[in-house]
Amino acid sequence: MNAPDRAAAAPSAGGPAPQLNPAEQAVVDAVLAERRHLAGALLPILHGIQDRLGYVPPGAQPVIARALQLSRAEVHGVVTFYHHFRSEPAGRHVLQVCRAEACQACGGEALLAQARERLGCSEAQPTNAARSHTVEPTYCLGLCAQSPAAMLDGRLHARLTPARLEALLAATGEIA
Ligand code: FES
Repeated sequence: MNAPDRAAAAPSAGGPAPQLNPAEQAVVDAVLAERRHLAGALLPILHGIQDRLGYVPPGAQPVIARALQLSRAEVHGVVTFYHHFRSEPAGRHVLQVCRAEACQACGGEALLAQARERLGCSEAQPTNAARSHTVEPTYCLGLCAQSPAAMLDGRLHARLTPARLEALLAATGEIA
C-alpha cells in the first residue's frame, strides 16, 4: 500500500485513539523509556514497538506524541507514510511483494494482485479474514537484478513467476 492509500485506510489522527491493552501499554512504555532521549527518536520508537509487537497500535500514537512533545498529526503522518509500519497484527504468514521500479517492470504488480486474490487480501485489508496471511507491498528488497522479488516469512525469493508464487503460497500449508 503506498503512503496515500495507507493514510486513507488508517485511523485518523483527529478522532479518539483506541486504548492500548496492557501488553501493548507495557511495550510502548518500555520502548519510550529506552529511546525517547535519542536524537530523532520517533522512528527508533516506532521500529522498537513494531519489532516487539509486530505492529504499532493506533493507541500508541498519542502516547508517543505526548512523550516527544509532537502533535498527534505528526506521529500519525510518519506512521502512515512508511509502509513498513502496520497498525494491526499481521497474519501467520507475511508475504511482501516488491513494487519498486525493477520489479514493476518485470511483473511485480501482477504477482501482488495474484497473491491478494489467491489469499483473500486487499490493499485496504492486507490480512485475510482467516488471519492466515498478510500481503504487503514493499519497495526494493535488494534483488533488483533478479526481479521480480518477494519475501515470504522473512525469506527472499527472486525471479518469481506466477507458478513459483503459487508454489510458495501452497507451501505455507494454509491455502485451499
Ligand atoms: S526493485 Fe524489486 S528488489 Fe529492487
